[in-house]
Amino acid sequence: MTGTIHLSPPDVGPLEESYLIAALRSGWVAPVGPDLDAFEREVAGRVGARGAVAVISGTAALHLALLGLGVGPGDVVLVPTLTFVATANAVRYTGARPIFVDCEPHTGNIDVALVAELLHRLRSRGERVGAVIPVDMFGSCADYTALLPVCAAADAPVLEDAAEALGATHVGRPAGSFGLVGALSFNGNKIMTTSGGGMLVGDDLTLLDRARHLSTQAREPVTHYEHRETGYNYRLSNLLAALGRAQLVRLDAMIDRRRRLRDRYAKLFASAPGVDLIGAEDTGSNCWLTSIRVDRERSGWAAAELAAHLAARDIETRPVWKPMHLQPAYADAESLLTGAAERLFAEGLTLPSGSALNERQVTVVLSAIDEFLAARTGISAE
Ligand SMILES: Cc1ncc(COP(=O)(O)O)c(C=O)c1O
Repeated sequence: MTGTIHLSPPDVGPLEESYLIAALRSGWVAPVGPDLDAFEREVAGRVGARGAVAVISGTAALHLALLGLGVGPGDVVLVPTLTFVATANAVRYTGARPIFVDCEPHTGNIDVALVAELLHRLRSRGERVGAVIPVDMFGSCADYTALLPVCAAADAPVLEDAAEALGATHVGRPAGSFGLVGALSFNGNKIMTTSGGGMLVGDDLTLLDRARHLSTQAREPVTHYEHRETGYNYRLSNLLAALGRAQLVRLDAMIDRRRRLRDRYAKLFASAPGVDLIGAEDTGSNCWLTSIRVDRERSGWAAAELAAHLAARDIETRPVWKPMHLQPAYADAESLLTGAAERLFAEGLTLPSGSALNERQVTVVLSAIDEFLAARTGISAE
């Protein structure tokens, strides 16, 4: 063994180094500069959006997107219960109230029928819905074909949390382009990284200008320091934008590696009863993380047992997100549930999925899983 095999480590190399060094030598070691402008243009182009604002994290992007939509105290915002906590936290930062919605059992994405039901209920209660935030779970777009008309009919603005989904598509359209505004993350574990970073993308340039203004302490464009409202220090640095530009050049190749790894997992588990890949049918996924769901009744073993087997071999796995309605921090929040997210939390397991995993590491992981399956089911793929 040569160290832990991680879930989704950063995939950086000589190209990133050269872009970073060039940015450093250019003298633009600041939260402004040509790489920042170019990075915004290039990501907007990739997503098919008119504009973009680069910020320090996906969480900051979500926060500013909500402020740009005018969300504030007294509003409610629909959030999938199956997500990373950042989605819900961003709602709380604005003073609005998140209401959690359960997911579809096979994809983990927001359950559109529940969204429709909840929007109807909220309207009859006279509540103002500030936004609906679908999350593109593990790099698979939500069902926008069904969701967008439901939200439009209720006049509910959509903020797409595409933190995990850059490079994914839904019926040929890029992730990040489905809402009035979208939020991306370039955290170290994401499909591409700036070590930490995020971006708002969208067509509404007025909203994006407001977000950009708020991201720089709401400083007025005058030489003395003039501020008419409370802003935030959220702007991404030019150096990190340079790193992002190099990653963007390699994005498709990195997605391709993750997809090929997912295919190998699919093949390995194909003959194991009771095991499904979450979101397996989605050909537009960027395959950010590959997760399985284990139906213990049919498989004869639990996801946690495979996790323990892999942990003993220094291979990292993670459960699927613990749903927000089970989080102590959100114990008082309202939710509309079917039990699907709780089942995914109980039965799901996320496997090493990173594009930086080398062939030796992939072989170690696949052999360890094969060994486990052979012992539990008597079936070996090899
Ligand atoms: C669904 C989702 N939303 C938001 C975020 C927040 O992004 P960041 O970590 O860049 O703040 C993440 C990832 O971390 C995420 O997975």
